[in-house]
Amino acid sequence: MRVGVLTGGGDCPGLNAVIRAVVRKGEVVYGDAVVGFADGWKGAVEGRTVPLDVERCRGILPRGGTILGTSRTNPYRIPGGAQRVLDNVAAAGLDALVAIGGEDTLGVAHRLASEGLPVVGVPKTIDNDLSGTEVTFGFDTAVQIATDAIDRLHTTAESHDRVIVCEVMGRNAGWIATYAGIAGGAAEILVPEEPFDIDVVCESLKRRHQKGRYASIVVVAEGARPKEGTIAVRDRQVDQFGHERLGGIGNVLAEEIEKRTGFESRVTILGHIQRGGTPTAFDRVLATRFGVAAIDAVHDGAFDVMVALRAGSIVRIPLADAVETLKTVDPELVHGVAEVFFD
Ligand code: F6P
Repeated sequence: MRVGVLTGGGDCPGLNAVIRAVVRKGEVVYGDAVVGFADGWKGAVEGRTVPLDVERCRGILPRGGTILGTSRTNPYRIPGGAQRVLDNVAAAGLDALVAIGGEDTLGVAHRLASEGLPVVGVPKTIDNDLSGTEVTFGFDTAVQIATDAIDRLHTTAESHDRVIVCEVMGRNAGWIATYAGIAGGAAEILVPEEPFDIDVVCESLKRRHQKGRYASIVVVAEGARPKEGTIAVRDRQVDQFGHERLGGIGNVLAEEIEKRTGFESRVTILGHIQRGGTPTAFDRVLATRFGVAAIDAVHDGAFDVMVALRAGSIVRIPLADAVETLKTVDPELVHGVAEVFFD
């Protein structure tokens, strides 16, 4: 068979491990020819392909990013874009396509499947907010990077008796904030799922600091929002999928905390550091398992599905189920576990 592969959306540690696995099992076990599309759906719309084989994939397992490039292009936002993807897949002689991405990329894959594209999805996002799979690759790496950063912030915050706000990624779901916050012993964790009350945050910090010379790390997801009418946040630019460009709530928060509590405050925005560099061993293994399962699905003729991790096993689920709703943080994890360590 001739099989296409593309990586879409924000890059993520482990993408290359998926590509390598698809190519390796495709070429060596099934005798496939694997071809990449450059820059996600953008390259598929424009018909830009990248040759792939086992040789080309040597050494990429530990490398972050994606050797194929990526973009946030939505073919359905380009006149005739979806048809051009279908035409380019046919022109490249492809029997199937493996699309590696988050809810946007896989949402497009699902729509194209209904128009006849034989496509298998692989779940990717450091945000871990894709439904149907217990975890996405990239999340473990991002949590580890954020936890390392929080550990470092503790020692400088303690030396100066400061509050340090650490802003992490997480547009609609606070998985990174919650996991890194618990792992790093945060004094507060603020997530997009629940608008935060700045008064409650400041009162909790005051109680904590009254107990002695105490520094605090406040972990905030970039998508966290204050309760309506409490603090002003500015409007932002949106991309082709209608997402705002986030980043900056940490600054607002640190300023408010200092103003309201009198505690000297600083902010660290981790940003794209969380997405760059080498994947953890967990993410390499998960990405490899997903890649192998994706090419197996292609050969079983199982299309319009996504490979997913459930109870330790890799399964196939309908793409429709994966993109229907976002997987948000269980409030019990924040209120029942993380909060025990707040005051
Ligand atoms: O891929 C998800 C994500 O990392 C979000 O956490 C973040 O809001 C967004 O991507 C940033 O996107 P960009 O790299 O386009 O600025």
